[in-house]
Amino acid sequence: MRVLVIGRGGREHAIVWALSRSPRIGKLYCAPGNAGIAQLAECVAIAENQFEELAAFAKREEIDLVFVGPDDPLSEGIVDYLEERGIRAYGPRRNAAEIEGSKVFSKQLLKTYNIPTAAYEAFDDYEQALAYVRSQPLPIVIKADGLAAGKGVIVAQTLEEAEEGLRGIMVDGRFGRSGSRVVIEEFLTGQEMSLLSFVDGTVVRPMVPSQDHKQVYDGDKGPNTGGMGTYSPVPHIPASVVEEAIETIVKPTAEAMVKEGRPFRGVLYAGLMLTEQGPKTIEFNARFGDPETQVLLPRLETDLLEIVLATLDGTLGDLDIRWSDEAAVCVILASGGYPESYPKGLPITGLAEVKDALVFHAGTARKDGEIVTDGGRVLGVVGRGRDIAEARQAAYAEADKIRFEGKHCRTDIASKALQA
Ligand code: AMP
Ligand code: GLY
Repeated sequence: MRVLVIGRGGREHAIVWALSRSPRIGKLYCAPGNAGIAQLAECVAIAENQFEELAAFAKREEIDLVFVGPDDPLSEGIVDYLEERGIRAYGPRRNAAEIEGSKVFSKQLLKTYNIPTAAYEAFDDYEQALAYVRSQPLPIVIKADGLAAGKGVIVAQTLEEAEEGLRGIMVDGRFGRSGSRVVIEEFLTGQEMSLLSFVDGTVVRPMVPSQDHKQVYDGDKGPNTGGMGTYSPVPHIPASVVEEAIETIVKPTAEAMVKEGRPFRGVLYAGLMLTEQGPKTIEFNARFGDPETQVLLPRLETDLLEIVLATLDGTLGDLDIRWSDEAAVCVILASGGYPESYPKGLPITGLAEVKDALVFHAGTARKDGEIVTDGGRVLGVVGRGRDIAEARQAAYAEADKIRFEGKHCRTDIASKALQA
């Protein structure tokens, strides 16, 4: 088969890596890809939002399947666009991707169908939002309605922080149009867990659980990022809690989307808080997580391409999907300054010395034959082992060999799993 993956991050490198292992792959392309992806697939210089060029390429190259990685093109309806032109594509259509693209929509859906989530109110008027914030207990959580690269959420501990955050989103337009509406919600406490599932309508095939580290500094300090590291499994979360989340959140949500006339087909990512009252939804994403994918796909024993094809053929429910018992830990190496501004184009050395880990490129490019930094999150180093301790040891030992100016990583990825 001839397959085109859309995207350029660590998630897409992991997807390309998994697909490249399928015996059914004849030719693999990635648009636009990065320097790491280029080692496994032919990279094509077309951006994720150039639908016309992507469709023309898919037609010309007789692509059998397009796999869409990121949220932006999904929210903009790339799957509808390709399907209308007779091109098979994996991922939710626009009306289903809205579960990620609009927090107001997803909160309303959860409320309507009584699916556990934080209590909330939505506002498009700044003065009303401000008055509400002032009337609520602290901490309080403020979210821009639309997509904001994982950074549109403010967990305010003080009223000053809350007011400043609200002003930034609604008045100063920090997230552009994404911030013209906000969701203001109750602060939840507990362990966080990412639970992704392969979904086709009401058929839900959960993956193994994982945990992300959103804040930039050790001890969950500093601003939120796209994710600084992940691990899977999450040994301190009992299987019964995962099962409860599947039954009370993931399956009812898939069913609700069907009832709403927006059947979800693709990867549904539930961000969960395991509270004392049981699992509650923090957010949904309409795609694989980044960097969750980097620890999930190395544990997937079944051919990813078979899962995708079964979804498109309507036979996902019949497929045997197997996961390995081994653990995986991903440590993100980020540019100095991320998630604020950071330099690009800095040479990366030591990649060839890495022997005992998978390295998924996130923001890299090739310049004059050299691999250089090209994004906030630069690389994801994935260690594997019999347990989290072993996988973590491998990830950090190998990450140490890689160097670039300003390199920053958290040193406490997966430590919660060791303390438990
Ligand atoms: P989101 O982009 O919605 O996943 O939010 C980013 C991060 O903000 C989450 O991973 C949580 O750590 C935190 N967060 C979001 N909503 C809440 C909430 N209601 N209570 C506590 N923390 C939250
Ligand atoms: N790791 C968080 C996300 O992919 O949204």
